[in-house]
Amino acid sequence: MATHSIPSFLLCFSLIANAIYFAVSQPFVGVNYGQVADNLPAAEATAELLKSTTVGKVRLYGTDPTIMRALANSGIGIVIGAANGEIASLATDPESATQWVNANVLPYYPESNITMISVGNEVLSSGDDGLKLQLLPAMRNVQNALDAASLRGKIKVSTVHSMALLTRSGPPSSGSFDPDLVERLRQLLVFNQNNESPFAINPYPYFSYRSDPKPEMLAFCLFQPNSGRVDLGSGKFYKNMFDAQVDAVYTALSNMGFENVEIVIAETGWPSRGDNNEVGASVENAKAYNSNLIAHLRSMVGTPLMPGKSVDTFIFALYDEDLKPGPLSERAFGLFKPDLTMVYDVGLLKSSSGQIPPVIPGKTQWCIPKVEVSEAQLQENIDYICGGKVVDCEAIEAGGACYEPNTIVSHAAYVMNLYYHEAGRNPWNCDFSQTAMLISQNPSYNTCVYPGGRN
Ligand SMILES: *[C@@H]1O[C@H](CO)[C@@H](O)[C@H](O)[C@H]1NC(C)=O
Repeated sequence: MATHSIPSFLLCFSLIANAIYFAVSQPFVGVNYGQVADNLPAAEATAELLKSTTVGKVRLYGTDPTIMRALANSGIGIVIGAANGEIASLATDPESATQWVNANVLPYYPESNITMISVGNEVLSSGDDGLKLQLLPAMRNVQNALDAASLRGKIKVSTVHSMALLTRSGPPSSGSFDPDLVERLRQLLVFNQNNESPFAINPYPYFSYRSDPKPEMLAFCLFQPNSGRVDLGSGKFYKNMFDAQVDAVYTALSNMGFENVEIVIAETGWPSRGDNNEVGASVENAKAYNSNLIAHLRSMVGTPLMPGKSVDTFIFALYDEDLKPGPLSERAFGLFKPDLTMVYDVGLLKSSSGQIPPVIPGKTQWCIPKVEVSEAQLQENIDYICGGKVVDCEAIEAGGACYEPNTIVSHAAYVMNLYYHEAGRNPWNCDFSQTAMLISQNPSYNTCVYPGGRN
């Protein structure tokens, strides 16, 4: 079909529809709804809160029927959990798995959009050998029960792992699993592969920083400007710890032959408060981590080993959980307070405009640096855009149409605008950690043509 024959107003409409779709739902951004607390809002209020955000999915640790009912017909994807304490009976008795599905899935599905069942949480690092042995049989029985209910493929079965499974995670190319667990993991990964379910894991750059609290490490963990790290094993360049940890998992999976098993980030987050010895736990850092993480996922840049796509990521957590044991930080990972106000703004509210520059519909726009931004930050943007090979930066290389004037500002402006247009021209594609803005004047000059287009 001759694509040039599509009327331009249709093309324009599809771009607007695309932008609206992304503003309504972020399929790859989810949130964990932990409930180890005695002060949380009612399920109905929580469901309303979730619907007021761009969060596309929520993970429950159990099967709370009130929240499942409250989320009915919202489209929000729901991951439910079988507790570690339920694994023994699920493993030994297929009938118990059938009953589990009958009680916790069938009454709610499909109105409540259950997408996955996590059987157990961090079982392989639990130190309980009996439980480790029963995990796979329990997952099989739950899968069989779903198959029998004709839900195969609609609801996936998996389990969630701790990052502690990796004995090495830095540099990413050295990522490898604990040799003592490799055989058991292999069996679980065969299950993931056969049932097309993801490998779910919990990376926390916060813990990396806490064990090595240097300023450079903080910037690396918070997706802030830093000198980055070259992985000599792969030759890849890392700008942030999240990508490094995800790629370490990918490497460990690849080395076992399971690079085709999808990775899901079941938990990641940053505490807004902590005890005196918990360095780095602050509102400022938590806000930086979570909002930069969301911007990174929205950008669809991906990781150096998995470019061009975003891993599904569930932020930990929706609320602070006041009854969690341990250090203060454990009770302070929430994005929202029990009174439904934000602990800090990460730009997830549908009406929120805090992080996202205004869009003037129908007007041609270009993305350029804000005036007050330093050259160092602009160089970061150039490295990020051109290092990731997401866009072709040839025009600013020697001999290219936009090489002159050979200044950081001019080069950054050209590639930031190019990135904005190639990434889909959504407002958040012109953010770059809040160093960019949209304008409606065409910055093109001489032979250097800035791509333009309508929002
Ligand atoms: C259910 O949630 C998933 C994951 O967010 C989403 O891809 C899917 O479209 C949702 N289904 C419906 C019927 O809304």
